[in-house]
Amino acid sequence: MRIIMLGAPGAGKGTQAQFITERFDIPQISTGDMLRAAVKAESDLGKQVKEVMATGGLVSDDIIIALIEERIQQPDCKNGFLLDGFPRTIPQAEALKDQGIAIDFVVEIAVDDEEIVSRLSGRRVHEGSGRIYHVKYDPPKVEGKDDETGEALVQREDDKEETVRKRLKIYHDQTAPLVGYYQDWAAEAPEDAPKYVRVEGVGSLDSIRDQILSKLQ
Ligand code: AP5
Repeated sequence: MRIIMLGAPGAGKGTQAQFITERFDIPQISTGDMLRAAVKAESDLGKQVKEVMATGGLVSDDIIIALIEERIQQPDCKNGFLLDGFPRTIPQAEALKDQGIAIDFVVEIAVDDEEIVSRLSGRRVHEGSGRIYHVKYDPPKVEGKDDETGEALVQREDDKEETVRKRLKIYHDQTAPLVGYYQDWAAEAPEDAPKYVRVEGVGSLDSIRDQILSKLQ
């Protein structure tokens, strides 16, 4: 099973990815998590991308494509994978297609911009694992602590309102065209194209999870 998650920042891609990867026993490949780990480790890649990420911009296609190409060669991807945050531009989608990497499903989670801004201000994450919480909609068992490790949760630097609005603009300019790209491909060549699944991303986490999983059978 090879799946792409598509949707605005804060639409719930990472949250739902946790359920889907568990169900299909495939790794979650989050470009955002990989880049944040590189920044934290202060690697060459991390130094290169730190500023652009903090201010809500997109990392260059060349860097991201190389990162994904390397990652999906790993043995844990042999039975499939879920791409969370990739592709994010048409050239990234074309790179995947050019390499002949067949994708089974594209899952779009649709949420409007104002809901996104309010959601991201309440997001908290566990840096070590990437586990995601929300102070109101999906709180941890103990306030401010990760459920599994008890370690402190943090707020992402790019979740400030001004940066979120910039990320949303970039999403509409550069990532939203992928919706048409995959829908057109599915209409023109249904035997080659990934199946396109769209769900409304507003409602309980469980109801959105159930809608997605029922369409992935
Ligand atoms: P990345 O980490 O991929 O961020 P993103 O796409 O902006 O997505 P998010 O992680 O912000 O949101 P999400 O949809 O996963 O939402 P979540 O499930 O957490 O990328 C970060 C940066 O890295 C980019 O800005 C860019 O610089 C760089 N980058 C990464 N990939 C790149 C690429 N391919 N090309 C170029 N640059 C790249 O949910 C959000 C919150 O809402 C949580 O608190 C959650 O608990 C809550 N929530 C979820 N569902 C619901 C619900 N139904 N109701 C209420 N609350 C909910």
